[in-house]
Amino acid sequence: MPRFPAGPGPIAAFRGMLPARGMSGFPVFFRSTAARFGPIASSLVGRNRFYYVSEPAAIEEVLVTAGRSYVKGRGTQRLERLLGKGLLTSNGALHLRQRRLVQPAFHRDRIAGYAAAMVRRAEAFAAGLVPGETLEIDAAMSRLTLGIAAETLFGAEVDDQADTIGRALDTAMESFPISLTPIGELLDHLPWVPVVKRFLGARAELDAIVYRLIEARRADPAGAGRPDVLGMLLAAGEGPEGMDVEQIRDETMTIFLAGHETTAMALTWTWWLLAQHPAVEAQIQAELAAVLGGRVPTLDDVPALRLTRDVIAESMRLYPPAWVVGRRAIEDAPLGPWTVPKGSIVIMSQWITHRDPSFWREPDAFRPERWSNGETDALPKFAYFPFGGGNRVCIGEAFAWTELILVLATIARRRRFAATPGLAAITGQPSVTLRPSAAVPLVVR
Ligand code: HEM
Repeated sequence: MPRFPAGPGPIAAFRGMLPARGMSGFPVFFRSTAARFGPIASSLVGRNRFYYVSEPAAIEEVLVTAGRSYVKGRGTQRLERLLGKGLLTSNGALHLRQRRLVQPAFHRDRIAGYAAAMVRRAEAFAAGLVPGETLEIDAAMSRLTLGIAAETLFGAEVDDQADTIGRALDTAMESFPISLTPIGELLDHLPWVPVVKRFLGARAELDAIVYRLIEARRADPAGAGRPDVLGMLLAAGEGPEGMDVEQIRDETMTIFLAGHETTAMALTWTWWLLAQHPAVEAQIQAELAAVLGGRVPTLDDVPALRLTRDVIAESMRLYPPAWVVGRRAIEDAPLGPWTVPKGSIVIMSQWITHRDPSFWREPDAFRPERWSNGETDALPKFAYFPFGGGNRVCIGEAFAWTELILVLATIARRRRFAATPGLAAITGQPSVTLRPSAAVPLVVR
């Protein structure tokens, strides 16, 4: 038996990793690799062996069973330029300590306290919509989820800075695919190159906002005691036993960005899908009428909003906001019949596995009913993994589900969004998250 699974040659693999428009770059390369070489394939690129893994059992092995044999992959490492060594990017003992520290802010009991702010902000957004008006739903959802994350997790109001944050994040996202290429590290040393210069400017803007958040809380005598993320970070204290201000900055920036960009994308794709599937939208209206009978939802309604949940689940199946996860082996690790040598990179993609016809009937179709008709009951665990898994599973998963269901229900109760010409031509544009390839204009009804 060969030592490594077969896969594309180094040049094809290198080309497959270059940035491209829409899904035509790495996602399509990954899909064709899986079709040609099977669910575990590999290539040698430079000195590193890359594994492309699309089979649920093998994904579980990497993320869960052998999870301790890996650290985050190169994509995450490149994200450190923006996030520093926060929860998403740190590894080992630092990660474990920080995860334990902020975990209580994401406990179910705490999320119950955030639900009211989620609904109040969604209700205010819906109340401000003017029927007949065309709205860029992606920008609108980013503003909404930013406001929710800032209020609930940081006890802060950033509404007047939402446009600055949105623009800075767009700029940072734009530079990410190029920073991932093999010349990414070289570019870091060339601050005058336009794309790098723009990134550094965007990071400085975000830094200023994050440091202001931290300073404002420090200045508030009751601030460190509040049981939100910022309160927990500050209560842990600075100094040798605690964190330096840079660590607090890194954690704040990470949760601030990870906590709103992903949910903004999930909501954007969901409205985009609903605008193109009015029959499903009508079913949601029926569910909202039956469950809520005209009032705004509360946390207690969430379990009863089953179709709303299924629609979001189906939206994240087709358009997973986190569309890829990567790992680097820190020791030899088993992978199915193979051994992944220390130093290798393993890449898994929600976008690929969530559309794999071996597990999903009509994989590219938007069919929320698959979540309630028994079709998905026997799926292997990692056929669907929008929030990852194992010791690095998303810390915000429960927060996200609560927010997505409550926001969708609160807005859909009052308004519909109708399609505009050209909407169906929008596709995914993979960056850190799976963003739409263009602004998503919808008409308020
Ligand atoms: C639809 C919404 C969301 C999706 C799809 C999502 C997805 C993910 C995924 C796939 C990971 C694991 C990445 C990996 O294994 O390499 C992750 C990690 C993480 N997410 Fe989320 N996320 C969402 C919402 C949130 C929210 C609301 C927050 C915070 C409020 C958050 C904060 C984080 C953090 C801090 C990590 C790193 C956890 C660790 O490594 O210990 N996410 N997320």
